[in-house]
Formats: sequence, structure tokens, C-alpha cells
Amino acid sequence: MPRATFWDTQRADVIGMASESESKSIVCVVSGRGSNLEAILRTARDEEWEEGRPAGCAIRVAAVISNRREARGLEVARAYGVPTLALPHGDFPSREGFDAALAEAIDIHGPVLVVLAGFMRVLTPGFVARYAGRLLNIHPSLLPAFAGLDTHRRALQAGVRLHGATVHFVSDRLDGGPIVAQAVVPVLPGDSEQTLAARVLEQEHFLLPRCIRWVLEGRVRLNGDRVLIEGIAPQDLLVVAR
Ligand code: GRF
Repeated sequence: MPRATFWDTQRADVIGMASESESKSIVCVVSGRGSNLEAILRTARDEEWEEGRPAGCAIRVAAVISNRREARGLEVARAYGVPTLALPHGDFPSREGFDAALAEAIDIHGPVLVVLAGFMRVLTPGFVARYAGRLLNIHPSLLPAFAGLDTHRRALQAGVRLHGATVHFVSDRLDGGPIVAQAVVPVLPGDSEQTLAARVLEQEHFLLPRCIRWVLEGRVRLNGDRVLIEGIAPQDLLVVAR
């Protein structure tokens, strides 16, 4: 079975340093463009996550893994000096085989949180169970509406006035799982799929880094199938863009 063999460890010096145990690591998994990943890395840099601000503990994006070798997200990660791994799913005979290799590659970094930042594959129940409460996804709709693909086109077809994005813990239902926070945008007359997608994406870039930080601060956690919130104003869990 193919295995995770070739880490591009531009920052291998950081891996294994004594200070690693004092910081909380996250691993991001991507399939494509990587704009959400970029938002995470930019926010982490601007807010000085590695220095322990503002979370009170150092947060480090330890690695980025993609199931597509050509994913722009891998370039984004390298530009920020984050180790990357391409793990093409086509190299594996089964979904279970891919997920096992993915888990192995993730676990090397001992992350407290795994972020699906535009990861376009259905995960096996075994994988989801392994990371229960530690697996976060962003989806470009107001879940539970428009789970699955082509959310912006379907929102336009349905004629909804509100659309948006959702950050949620992953369950083994497609785009299901307890919701952490949502961002709402209006659907405007004359919107195309592209204009609507752009309006949603801007909010995704705000929402996802924020939710990650909350989880790492212990202000958001999963308890069974419920999300427990501590010390977050309710209005911060719902971003309303005009
Ligand atoms: C985003 O819209 C995200 O919500 C969805 O896939 C898209 C990924 O975009 N899961 P990017 O790769 O982050 O630019």
C-alpha cells in the first residue's frame, strides 16, 4: 500500500524542537485553491499565533496535506514555510486505504485539531470517529441547506434571499455535524454564481480562522453531538454581512 513518504519539510528544523510540546499543532487538509488555508496562515501570522497571542498558547500550523499533487494550497503552504505532503487519493486502492494513510500522515504531527480547508473528499466513518471533536470543516452554505456540491448555483436556483458559510465539526453525514458558527450574506438581484461565491468566500476567510482559534482556546468544544461554547458572545457566532 502506498504510504506517506515524502514530506517537503522546508521547516523540518521546527519539527522536533523541544518547544513543540508546549505549542498546539493543527494540520490542514486541502484539495485545491487554498484560499481558506491562506486566510488561516495570514491570520496566524498577523495575530502572532505562534507567539501565543492572542490564544494564550502557541498555535502552529504543523503541516498541510493535499489529496491532489497540483493543489495551489500546497504552494500557499510552502510560501508560508509550512511542511507539505501530497497524498494523491488515486494511488490508493480503496477509500479506507487512503484515509488510513492520511491519518498516519496527520498523526506524525500530533495535532489537537485537523482542519478541512476545502477538502473535497468524503471521509470514511472510521476516519471521522478517530478525530471526533478534533475535525473541523468549512462548507459554503448555511447548513443544513445545500449540503454537497454546487452550493451557490443551487442557492440561486432555489431563490433564497440569504446564503452563507458554515464551520462545523465533522460527523459521518455529508456536510453534517454540529455547527460552530455561520456567516450570512444576502443574495442580491443580478447575482451570478461567481458574484455570490465571492461574497461568501470573503466571509469564509473571516470565519474559519476565528473558529480555529476558539477551538484551540478551549472556548468551543464538542460534547457528544452538541457544541459547547464558553466565553463567546452569541452575536460572534453569527456573522451577518451586508
Ligand atoms: C470553499 O468554498 C470551502 O467552503 C469549500 O471548498 C472551497 C475551498 O476553497 N469547502 P479554497 O480552496 O479554500 O479556496
